[in-house]
Amino acid sequence: MKIADFLIEHADVVATCAGPAPRRGRSQGDISPLRDAAIAAHAGQIVFVGPQATLADHVRLLDGIVRVDARSCTVVPGFVDAHTHVVYAGDRRDELRQRLAGATYAEIAARGGGILQTVRATRTASEDELVALARVRLDEMAACGTTTCEAKSGYGLTVESELRQLRAIQRLDAEHAIDLVPTFLGAHEVPMEFRERPDDHVTPGLDDMIPRVADASLAEWCDVFCEKGAFTPEQSARILQAGLRSGLRPRIHADELGTSGGARVAADLGARSADHLVFVDERDAECLAAAGVCAVLLPITALCLRLGRYAPARMLIDRGVAVALGTDLNPGAGLSPSMPFALSLACFAMGMTLEESLVAATLNAAWSVDRSDTVGSLEPGKLMDAVIARGDPTNLVRVGAPSIMTVIKRGKVIFRAQ
Ligand code: NIG
Ligand code: FE
Repeated sequence: MKIADFLIEHADVVATCAGPAPRRGRSQGDISPLRDAAIAAHAGQIVFVGPQATLADHVRLLDGIVRVDARSCTVVPGFVDAHTHVVYAGDRRDELRQRLAGATYAEIAARGGGILQTVRATRTASEDELVALARVRLDEMAACGTTTCEAKSGYGLTVESELRQLRAIQRLDAEHAIDLVPTFLGAHEVPMEFRERPDDHVTPGLDDMIPRVADASLAEWCDVFCEKGAFTPEQSARILQAGLRSGLRPRIHADELGTSGGARVAADLGARSADHLVFVDERDAECLAAAGVCAVLLPITALCLRLGRYAPARMLIDRGVAVALGTDLNPGAGLSPSMPFALSLACFAMGMTLEESLVAATLNAAWSVDRSDTVGSLEPGKLMDAVIARGDPTNLVRVGAPSIMTVIKRGKVIFRAQ
């Protein structure tokens, strides 16, 4: 008999997403649902998920237990946002207006806007300021159901300022309910001081930076923005290999604004994820599938950049690539903190089913950041991280509808709708 100090009871539907990760191909949409179900937890960890009627046979409820009534509600695993740039300073709302007036990403960057504008602001911000600014964004993400997120540096581009961003991520992981997974993105952009000799930012620049970041134990992953105007496939591979030598595992921004060769780099190096993939083709998709690289799709960015197209999610799933989702929260085109909005776009703009997008936002996203042993599904032994939404699961993708009633992290209610 298990004991429990936290209980979700009488849930109409529980999308447990239980089972092996990552899910790909036909099993991408396997949410392992239960009806009229309960979920019990002790000390923040799930001890029981099953039919309401059998709860009493398996679990003894402790005095003072916290009970959440989920009658007429859907319960899904807490969302895992697989790609964010949540720690930054400054403001680029002027850019938003330029984009709405028709300017492209490349035109804005050429005018000195884009990533480098955020780099200027972030370099002058203190660690405390970065933490305070990001805390507000994390609160918004939590209200939208996110309980774990990946978080990148990449707005410092010098060792000191990258480390400051990564220390802010570490502090936020400790103090905020959302768990953060840290990624070093010193190759987000070629900094101003290296514009005339961009190769020097790679060697010796990043070659020096990477071991220092790894020694500080502040990052698990190394990421690169592989794109025309940022880093070439050759530079990207060199940087990710330097990361691997220092124990930082590779992930990559690939094929976001054009065919960049990034997907091929991801496959060759066995990266855990290739992200964006708006312009990926079928041959590269087959390479990703063969190498077991997960596709992290970020449709909010494609929408806000007004790219006029989205990653070919159906083609990737049909080719056997595991698909995950993220918001890409960032000061440029990552305008939404909402994983439900990413789910809506996954369904209505990328042609994924509701079930496929749910797995993408939970179990597969957890796998993409190597957390699927602890989060991403509702099953005994994992953390009690869950989202309770009003009514049927389809409510989650009704854009703008306030469907989320309760968000739970480690067995504690971290958000409740008024
Ligand atoms: O994922 N592409 C590079 N990084 C972000 C954009 C960051 C920014 O514009 O500040 C992205 O889209
Ligand atoms: Fe990004």
